[in-house]
Amino acid sequence: MCGIVGYIGHREAYPIVIKGLQRLEYRGYDSAGIALYDGKSIKLSKTKGKVADLKERLESEISIDGTLGIGHTRWATHGIPNDVNSHPHYSNSGDLVIIHNGIIENYDSLKKELINRGYTFQSDTDTEVLINLIEDVKKNENIKLGKAVQIALNQVVGAYAIAVFDKNKPNEIVVAKLGSPLAIGIGDDEFFIASDASPFIEYTKNAIYLEDEQMAILRRGKDIKIRKIKNDALVDPYVQELQLNLEQIEKGGYPHFMLKEIYEQPSAILDTFRGRLLSNEAIIKMAGVEDNMKKFLAADRIIIVACGTSWHAGLVAEYIFEDLARIPVEVEYASEFRYRNPVITEKDIVIAISQSGETADTLAAIKLAKSKGAFVFGVCNVVGSSIARESNAGAYTHAGPEIGVASTKAFTTQITLLTLMALRLARAKGTMSSSEFRHHLIELETIPGKVEEALSSDAYVKTVAEIYKDSKNCLYLGRGFNFPVALEGALKLKEISYIHAEGYPAAEMKHGPIALIDEQMPIIVIATKKGHYEKVVSNIQEIKSRKGKIIGIVTKGDVSVKELADHVIEVPETIECLTPLLTTIPLQLLSYHIAVMLDKNVDQPRNLAKSVTVE
Ligand code: AGP
Ligand code: GLU
Repeated sequence: MCGIVGYIGHREAYPIVIKGLQRLEYRGYDSAGIALYDGKSIKLSKTKGKVADLKERLESEISIDGTLGIGHTRWATHGIPNDVNSHPHYSNSGDLVIIHNGIIENYDSLKKELINRGYTFQSDTDTEVLINLIEDVKKNENIKLGKAVQIALNQVVGAYAIAVFDKNKPNEIVVAKLGSPLAIGIGDDEFFIASDASPFIEYTKNAIYLEDEQMAILRRGKDIKIRKIKNDALVDPYVQELQLNLEQIEKGGYPHFMLKEIYEQPSAILDTFRGRLLSNEAIIKMAGVEDNMKKFLAADRIIIVACGTSWHAGLVAEYIFEDLARIPVEVEYASEFRYRNPVITEKDIVIAISQSGETADTLAAIKLAKSKGAFVFGVCNVVGSSIARESNAGAYTHAGPEIGVASTKAFTTQITLLTLMALRLARAKGTMSSSEFRHHLIELETIPGKVEEALSSDAYVKTVAEIYKDSKNCLYLGRGFNFPVALEGALKLKEISYIHAEGYPAAEMKHGPIALIDEQMPIIVIATKKGHYEKVVSNIQEIKSRKGKIIGIVTKGDVSVKELADHVIEVPETIECLTPLLTTIPLQLLSYHIAVMLDKNVDQPRNLAKSVTVE
């Protein structure tokens, strides 16, 4: 999720590590910390807040000597952002210290086992469980750190990029990777590690990007050894000479954060599933829902409050909750809800959706709801954010930091999480058979791959963007689950290209908007095989007869729309309620390419803020 940095070699470690953390600040984080080995003992300092706060605190707290050090910027997933939950984390003995990016899904069962063996825990994090598991293995098997890490990681389910060292063996750092990035800089008798190359590119351009399920032992005066975590087999290191500059590295090689985050959606959706979607056991596990199941089952209705893109995710959730779990849902703009003196009772459940967890209108809406006795469930991306803390319960999307102002992976991970909730409640209410439930789980698991496939239309979408980039107006149409996607597509185009765009239910065309259509007007129509397909095709015919320019978002292999539309962009087939996760992809790409062609500030569009913390 966030940032790791490490150094072992002949230079002073502190300046390299602290500057490396500053280089990684762009990734978004909530806390930071550093551990140094000064030749006698481990010196460690960590704090909630910024790297600058850490620098100030650390330089007054500890000696900053030593040629071995690791540092971390945290994006909390387990345990709110505070000093104790910040990394690095010690093992119980104080001999080992770890930094970690990612999520240990089975940390709970591992923690219970370790507590039974007498281990104690200072923090609420999953990471502290991992370092004590490594210590436990190391002690019981009486083996070296590298081997202990390998054995321990074979007991772990989840994602990690870790760096660990033992104060009794200060000539080595052990690193390992699964699901989170880890780059190793190869210097002259020195090694650098980081989440990307930006912390060490000025020292060396020779880098190794560890692959999933690989680990490495970085030992002073020795060549790097890379092994497979599964079976300890040695792997030939592939050292590449980096040609990227700093700015390119920060954006993962993408020209903008928005494009990077559009392409992160397969892994972000996977992170939303982690530990929650267990298809081989055919169960969904969400603590915030399980612990309040009675309330959910007894609820008269669910009121969803949100703003902007999150409000669009709420509209998709309305269709999904009502269709699958048969629970009445109302979706409200938080800014309206908070002022219109709504009727709220104790039998209501309010779901607040917010990427930032700091949107003022949404925060005010849930305070109002709570004051009238409603139960509030928060769906946020930022752990420990104001909305998360104000909610009675909740679940985090685990999308990782979203830097671009235009929400992309936040939208798809919100829908993913809300779909998991709707499926869980449908199962609990018996509104869905076990075979239907299992079918949905299995199909949901294919979505990251299908998003990947939808992204492969990027080059074609760019050619369509070239044709329509100078349009003055644009219409987006969808039906059913894809009506909110039409709204979201229009918002994306508006907010980054400044072209006026409107989203409508496709059937609404004849109630006025069709008067707008002429040969200057591009109309994006979401016409996937599922969901009133024939009706949407007839809407397309109405548009065609008025010479509108039609861009169809269709299911792969579609024929009918292809005959009518000026352009079609294909997405893979999936079950109807999951189509929004795919149809939104070409709309994100279309708005992105048009904005770039118009030379707009894609990541920070004019007049907009990433989090609207004012009314
Ligand atoms: C969407 O691209 C915009 N960034 C904006 O509409 C955003 O969705 C809205 O401000 C809500 O933000 P939140 O999800 O952080 O509450
Ligand atoms: N899951 C770990 C925690 O919550 C690491 C989070 C991160 O990747 O920064 O502390």
